[in-house]
Amino acid sequence: MNVVILAAGMGKRMQSDLPKVLHALGGKPLLSHVIDTARQLCPSRCCVIYGHGGDAVPTRLASDDLHFVLQEPQLGTGHAVMQAAPLLNDDEPTLVLYGDVPLITLGTLETLAAAAGSNTLAVLTVELDDPTGYGRIIREQQRIVRIIEQKDADDNQRKIREVNTGILVAPTRKLKTWLSRLSNDNAQREYYLTDIIAQAVKDGLTVESTHPAHAWETLGVNSKLQLAELERIYQRSIASQLLEQGVTLADPARIDVRGTLRCGRDVIIDVNCIFEGEVVLGDQVQIGANCIIRNARIAAGTQIKPFTHIEETLIGTESRIGPYARLRPGTVLADDVHIGNFVEVKNSQFGTHSKANHLAYVGDATVGSRVNIGAGTITCNYDGANKHRTIIEDDAFIGSDTQLVAPVTVGKGATLGAGTTLTKDAPANSLTVSRAKQTSIAGWQRPVKPKK
Ligand code: UD1
Ligand code: CA
Repeated sequence: MNVVILAAGMGKRMQSDLPKVLHALGGKPLLSHVIDTARQLCPSRCCVIYGHGGDAVPTRLASDDLHFVLQEPQLGTGHAVMQAAPLLNDDEPTLVLYGDVPLITLGTLETLAAAAGSNTLAVLTVELDDPTGYGRIIREQQRIVRIIEQKDADDNQRKIREVNTGILVAPTRKLKTWLSRLSNDNAQREYYLTDIIAQAVKDGLTVESTHPAHAWETLGVNSKLQLAELERIYQRSIASQLLEQGVTLADPARIDVRGTLRCGRDVIIDVNCIFEGEVVLGDQVQIGANCIIRNARIAAGTQIKPFTHIEETLIGTESRIGPYARLRPGTVLADDVHIGNFVEVKNSQFGTHSKANHLAYVGDATVGSRVNIGAGTITCNYDGANKHRTIIEDDAFIGSDTQLVAPVTVGKGATLGAGTTLTKDAPANSLTVSRAKQTSIAGWQRPVKPKK
């Protein structure tokens, strides 16, 4: 089929310089939700009508499978679809979607498309308790005969609760003819897409209606308030999917997924965690409260304790991370690694059974297996201009409060005494210590405050 996504409107009520359809829901632009759902229908053409906000929309979302068509000026929804007409394949139906209606589901669109045909136009409609503002569906003997906009409707028509969601599927060749005949002789002086319904009926076509699987699917975003409401609906639906898959959520109302979260069996997630980008949690992974995890893979049996930040990181099995740990991009941890409180790791690899349990910075380091990094240890990886690597070989023991001035290597099985500033390589299986000799001054007196 052909898909046309209307996204040229200006979204004045957002009170923002950013075009409305670029505002984020679940971490990605509203329009991207619609595009991603449309892609699942494998359309032969997918056209996005843009206008307000200049080139921001095509610049941000450019992709080989999308045709961005400028609508300037914006003279209504019918005028918008008209802009895409030359791009539409006559032999396939055309689906019209709205860029600011992000939660529409594939299932609902498939049902709608199945109701359409070469002599049938299909419109997605809903019954609302308060239909104010929407186009009303006018039926005669049950059959849809036209749609009338709120501003053009009389008092009786305004009582109709069945409304147009704006989403429809039409036979394309006929659609092009109807579009070319639209007029703007109405209250808003706009070319209404909705006027094609009456034309279809006049041409002897049937107009069918289908309904969305969930009421929230057709909610649009016109304000920050509606955006926030949709964000909660979206997050709640992701939480429900996770629960259905067997994930334990301490509170489904207190998780935010801004991307995709894949979980194995018996995963437990405590409250207030944010998952961004692509996150994969293996079987029996536990995530403590208040963690932020972005683009990471965490293997089976690992526990992430509260208040931990993880970004672009791979973590092996049976590891213990946090509380208050920070794993930055390029961190790769093998199995059974312990990273404790106030430890920052960046662009570093840890072998199996290695530990850095307290207050350390490990940056640009290659750490072997069974290494213990004591409290207060710092890799001095940056000389003000260049970054250098620290290599810590298997079974090394780094005493507390050590500075490793990179580039430097700690040999296999080496021990560094507490307080060492290591500027040259430490040989394997030896104790290396750099420390001023300890002295004591007998009978030394503390200064005393003068008496008043
Ligand atoms: C439209 C429908 C109405 C329906 C309602 C559902 C028409 C005439 N009316 O009304 O029946 O109940 O949606 O929300 O179709 N747009 C463009 N270019 C334009 C005008 C609009 O791209 O020139 C886009 C907007 O960005 C938006 C969508 O089309 O995504 C709908 O436009 P909007 O102005 O919100 O339509 P409504 O008047 O609400
Ligand atoms: Ca609207």
